[in-house]
Amino acid sequence: MLQAVDTTGNRPRNLILIGFMGTGKTTIGMRVARSLGFRFVDTDRLVVKMAGKSIPTIFSESGEEAFRALETEALRSCVGSSRLVISTGGGIVTREENRALLKQAGYVIWLRASPEAIYERIRRSRNRPLLQTPDPLQSIRDLLAVREALYESCADLAIRSDDLTVDETCFGVTESAQLALGEGSFEG
Ligand code: S3P
Repeated sequence: MLQAVDTTGNRPRNLILIGFMGTGKTTIGMRVARSLGFRFVDTDRLVVKMAGKSIPTIFSESGEEAFRALETEALRSCVGSSRLVISTGGGIVTREENRALLKQAGYVIWLRASPEAIYERIRRSRNRPLLQTPDPLQSIRDLLAVREALYESCADLAIRSDDLTVDETCFGVTESAQLALGEGSFEG
């Protein structure tokens, strides 16, 4: 993965966080948005607002494809904006259309974690329909096997959070974003 900082004036306008469920995109995104002075948006929350239903209800009543269509609509609504931190659902990279939109939207950071760390973080959650299976750890492994290459293809930078505290991850994300977005990293 090539990392380059563009100093030619064509800087990206938003910061986008991608990564599997349970990698901290929302928690980290909210804090980084505060540090950068950007607005925080979360595609899952936009979908819930658009549908007027929870994610498990959308999945059970209308199916995953209906959820994905709403997710694309939510992402598309952010692309023309600037100074946003956009936290995305873990499956957003599964649609080619979304992968193109992510790249268009701004600087993309992939938050990575091992299947075991992800499992520890999500095992009490009832809000992730794709992991309501008899063996969630295996489901995580199976989904990651398909998705890792997709995350990689969209990401400008990857940060592995297994051994980092939330503070450390926020620091890494904020510093990288300031550099890439040209957001006054030397102003203190
Ligand atoms: C999904 C991840 C979830 C949510 C939906 C589907 C996925 O978001 O969009 O349950 O396919 O990985 P988080 O990554 O915020 O949990």
